Amino acid sequence: MTRSGTNSLAAELLVHLDRASKVPLHRQLGTAIRDGVQSGRLPLGTSLPPTRALAADLGVSRGVVVEAYQQLVAEGYLASRSGGYTQVAAGAQTTPRPTPQAVRPATHAIDFGYGRADVSNFPRAAWLRSIRRVLTEIPSDRFGYLDGRGVPELHLALSDYLNRVRGTVATPDRMVICNGFAQGLALLLRVLSAGGARRIAVEDPSADDDTRPIAAELGLSVTGVPVGPDGIDVAVLDRTEADALVLTPSHQWPTGGVLAPDARAAVARWATRTGALVIEDDYDTEYRYDRAPIGALQGLAPEQVAYAGTASKTLAPGLRLGWLVLPAHLVGPVAEAKVAADRGSPVLDQLTFADFLARGEFDRHLRRMRPVYRRRRDALLGALAEFLPDFEPAGILAGLHLVTWLPSDLDEATVVETAARHGIGVAGLAQYHLGTPPRGGLIFGYATLGEQTIRRGVAQLATALGRRGTVSPPDAVAAT
Ligand SMILES: Cc1ncc(COP(=O)(O)O)c(C=O)c1O
Repeated sequence: MTRSGTNSLAAELLVHLDRASKVPLHRQLGTAIRDGVQSGRLPLGTSLPPTRALAADLGVSRGVVVEAYQQLVAEGYLASRSGGYTQVAAGAQTTPRPTPQAVRPATHAIDFGYGRADVSNFPRAAWLRSIRRVLTEIPSDRFGYLDGRGVPELHLALSDYLNRVRGTVATPDRMVICNGFAQGLALLLRVLSAGGARRIAVEDPSADDDTRPIAAELGLSVTGVPVGPDGIDVAVLDRTEADALVLTPSHQWPTGGVLAPDARAAVARWATRTGALVIEDDYDTEYRYDRAPIGALQGLAPEQVAYAGTASKTLAPGLRLGWLVLPAHLVGPVAEAKVAADRGSPVLDQLTFADFLARGEFDRHLRRMRPVYRRRRDALLGALAEFLPDFEPAGILAGLHLVTWLPSDLDEATVVETAARHGIGVAGLAQYHLGTPPRGGLIFGYATLGEQTIRRGVAQLATALGRRGTVSPPDAVAAT
């Protein structure tokens, strides 16, 4: 039991350490804080006591508190903020509190939210033609239960497409169709965990809403590998002893870099030497603008890499269509996990997508959308250069978002909050870091905004931040 009194920091967190227990103290402390977050008792944004103060209060060494905090940061429950304090992180509650605020989407007059395709451009007519053809042509027995891998027509159409466009080495027998990347990743981590995996490496920064929560649920520890302009630091990866690495080599999420060729080869060598699996998240590389295509890492090492693709950025996230190209030994176990999860993805959607691909409609859609997104990206870069010239863009060559590093006199959280108060939605990078962020930055999604709106949004942000005396008044900018 804690030695502290009822008004202590430990009592506020409801931490009671049992020194007679065999469970290490850092794990007891971690469990108490995790429970607090999951139950909503420690709501989003709550600042935790400084490690030194809490350690003194609990009568333990500071290392116990540091270790507990670090583990919870890795799991996504907590985040380290610049200034050295630790907060309950976004999205950490596994039991959502049913307040109206929790379910109401954020409303910003201009929202640079990232991770969205422009679904208003969904190719409805071509998709409808494919649905119609499939429904007209398939025999009734195709409506029965499927095996966990999905329909052969889609395996064939996708493997052709991926080998041609993404440089994979894919054969139909290595493919499993799943409900987006999210499910593909969950199935893989489940299979790896059942096979004895204990430690997963992720990029730092990286998405906080996929690997980290699943790993926490499965009891897998998560280690961050720092990302520079050319992708992850392979020397650090070498020291992780990870059983798997989740990687976005062709367009690092969120910073937008491309894994350098020698680093790609080094990752493949690391996986071969250690027997670890690389889970390649290839989420948006079809949209590339000023550079030659970067082939998938899977093409370099098909027995070490599980390639994961998704239609969420190219078509629409609501389709929930994703696919895995797997090393031979994982095909059976992942297909079984898929059956256990949901008995297979909907057959009509799979056959429709197969028809859409085989008839070249997917290529046509990408050809149509690429210049649309490119113009939006260019509008954003132009507006940043004009109104916020000391914001440094990065990761601009591909995808549907870019990052801007902030000048050193601006605090990221303050910028995000000021923007929100002025009706501009833009996210900060800090929440995606496992460790202390080296630098403040913003993520600008541009895929769903018209060019004039993008320009107006950046101009308004500059005005809100008081960065530019000569900003054109918003009214002088034509509405989109
Ligand atoms: C890094 C990353 N990978 C993959 C995805 C796609 O996930 P899903 O296919 O589950 O929609 C996203 C979506 O935002 C993402 O940000």
